[in-house]
Amino acid sequence: MVFDEKEFRSYLPKDFGRRIVCFPETDSTNTRLVEAVRRGAAGYGDIFIAGSQTSGRGRRGKSFLSPDGGIYLSFCVNNNSDSLTTVICGVAVSKVLEKHGLSPEIKWVNDVLLGGKKVCGILAEAISGTSYAALGIGINVHEKDIPKEISDIAASLDAHINGEISKEKIAGSIISEFSKLTCADRSSVIAEYRKRLRFLGSDIRIISTGEICKATDVSENGELIVKKKNGDIAILNSGEISISEVN
Ligand code: BTN
Repeated sequence: MVFDEKEFRSYLPKDFGRRIVCFPETDSTNTRLVEAVRRGAAGYGDIFIAGSQTSGRGRRGKSFLSPDGGIYLSFCVNNNSDSLTTVICGVAVSKVLEKHGLSPEIKWVNDVLLGGKKVCGILAEAISGTSYAALGIGINVHEKDIPKEISDIAASLDAHINGEISKEKIAGSIISEFSKLTCADRSSVIAEYRKRLRFLGSDIRIISTGEICKATDVSENGELIVKKKNGDIAILNSGEISISEVN
């Protein structure tokens, strides 16, 4: 992989990047980071980044396709059970893409979309036995790497950004935005999240049950508030639920 660690570091906030580990290829940066933290070899603020992943992981046991050329990184953050880690990360990615002139949307809970298709996935995993979590971000960069079978649901940066794409700048700026947003008050973070949320006011399908509801709001904890067909209000927790659009 071609990745300029010095340039990347220039975008990082002070509390991140004490240790940066770059893998040309690894199984999964989240797996590597979790393992390193568990054996005491990594801690808060450390960043693992890979040129490609052989076993990139997504939410709910899904795989995340990670060919060479994409952005795959994981960093170690504090794991507060009431924190908005994944919500903050979705907003941070969106803000960075907006600085590139793009108009991303967030699909609850944490897919970032361009033109209605997924360009970025986020996976936060608590590291048991520690007070940390691994926060992993995967971004599709090259359109040519997206397999035909998923081309109607996956987007890439180079299809939307004219000119050169600096992976170092994008990755470093996301961590910088994340760090800033971590200090912001909860309601302003939720407001930032809400205004980029796709499907608010629309019918969505809860994938596991097939149930169709209207997405009405996001709670202060980042849960999705929905109205069922019978009028009941339900609060969906990201741990169990995935949603899809109803056409
Ligand atoms: C999802 O789409 O459900 C989340 C995808 C998260 C992918 C990133 S790539 C870097 C880090 N390592 C992984 O194995 N997963 C995350």
